[in-house]
Amino acid sequence: MIDRLAAQGVLRANDRGGYTVPTDRLYPFQWNWDSAFVAMGFATFDAPRAWAEIESLLRGEWDDGLIPQIVFHAPSDDYFPGPDVWGIERDPRTSGITQPPVLATAARKVLESAPGSGSEARMAAIWPKLRDNHRWWARARDPQGTGLVTTLHPWETGMDNSPAWDAALDRVPTTTRNAIRRRDTGHVDPAFRPRAIDYQRFIHLVECFADAGWDPAGMLAASPLRVADVGTNAILLRAERDLAALATRFGTPAERTEIEGRIARMAPALETLWQDGFYLSRDLISGAAIPVRTSAGFLPLFAGESPHEAALAATLQAWAGMVRWLVPSTDPAHPQFEPLRYWRGPVWAVVNWMIADGLRGNGHDALARRVEGDTLTLIDAHGFSEYFDPTTGQGIGGATFSWTAAIALLLEGTR
Ligand code: GLC
Repeated sequence: MIDRLAAQGVLRANDRGGYTVPTDRLYPFQWNWDSAFVAMGFATFDAPRAWAEIESLLRGEWDDGLIPQIVFHAPSDDYFPGPDVWGIERDPRTSGITQPPVLATAARKVLESAPGSGSEARMAAIWPKLRDNHRWWARARDPQGTGLVTTLHPWETGMDNSPAWDAALDRVPTTTRNAIRRRDTGHVDPAFRPRAIDYQRFIHLVECFADAGWDPAGMLAASPLRVADVGTNAILLRAERDLAALATRFGTPAERTEIEGRIARMAPALETLWQDGFYLSRDLISGAAIPVRTSAGFLPLFAGESPHEAALAATLQAWAGMVRWLVPSTDPAHPQFEPLRYWRGPVWAVVNWMIADGLRGNGHDALARRVEGDTLTLIDAHGFSEYFDPTTGQGIGGATFSWTAAIALLLEGTR
C-alpha cells in the first residue's frame, strides 16, 4: 500500500510557493514535464494547488509560445547550467529549449478530476497559452508540415542520455566557451549520471542556440543534432487530442478545426516511425531510423489507437522475461543497456504511467495492470526515488522525487 500522506508530503515539501521543484538541491527550479505530472498528482488532493502548478509554469512561456524546459523562478547555486549560461533575459528567467509537451493532457486531467466553476475559470484563463504553445510546436519545430516535430537537444526529449542519442551526439563537438561546473555529481553517485563528455556536448548545443539568438528557424538550421523523437511526437499527438477535447469548451470552432488539421497530419507521420517491428526515433540529419529500442517506443500507445498494439504488447512481454521490473528505459537485450545509469536502463514512474495508460487504451488491461503494479511495488519498497534498477528494484538518484510521488498518487487512486 502506498502511503498517500507520505506521497502528498513529498509534493508539499518540494513546493517552493506555487511551483514544485523535482527534488531538493539536485533540481532546484521548475521543470516543464515534471510540473505537468506534479499537477496531476496535486489534483488528487488539492485542485487549486494543481492549477497553480500549471499557471506558474506558464509564467515562463515565451511570447512565441515556447514553454521552456526550466523556469528559474528563484536563484540557486545547486544546478548547472543556470540562467547565466543560457543568457536569456526574461522575467522569470528560463532556459531556451523545451521538453515533452504533457501539459495539455495534464490540464484536461486536472479539470476532469476537479470539475466546478473554479476549475472552469482557471482552464479558460490558460487556454490561449496552451493553444499558442501547440502552434509553436508546429511553426518552430515542423515548419515544413511533415507531421513530425524536431528535437534539437537530448534534454528536450526528457531522456537525456538515452543510448538512442549516442550516434547523433557523437557528431556534436565537445568544445564549450563556458566552464562546465556540474553540480549533480556532488549530490548523487557519478556512476549513475550522464558522463562528462555528454555534458560538454549538451553545453555545446546550448551555446550554438544562443549564437542563433534563440530564433527557432536559426536554431533548426544551425543545430548539429536534429531528431524526430518518437517519445516527444507521441506525447504531442496525445496532447493535441486532449487540446481538441478542451477546444470544444474553451476554444472557438476555428481553433478546433486547426487542431484537428494538425492531428490529421501527425497521426500518419507517427506511423512512419514504425521500423523493423518497433517504433524508432529518426535521425533527421542522416535520415536513418535510430536502431535502439527504448521505452519511448511504447508511447505511440499513449498517443491513441496504434495499429501495432499486439506487436508492442508482445515486445513488452519479452522485456519482462529479461528483467524483473517493467519498464526498463532501454531494451535489456541491447548492448548499451545499463540498469543503473539514468535513461540507459532504469525504470521511470512517469514513463510507466503513460505506457500503462496507452496499454489500457489499446485493450491490454492485464499488461497495463502489470506495469502499474510494478510501479507501485517499487515505490512501496524503495521510496519516491528518481528512478529504479529494473533488475533489483533498487531506488536510485534523488530520493524524494516529486513526479514519482505524483504517479504514486495517480496510480493508487486506480487500484
Ligand atoms: C533530468 C531528466 C528529465 C527531468 C529532469 C528534472 O534532466 O532527464 O527528464 O525532467 O531531470 O527531473
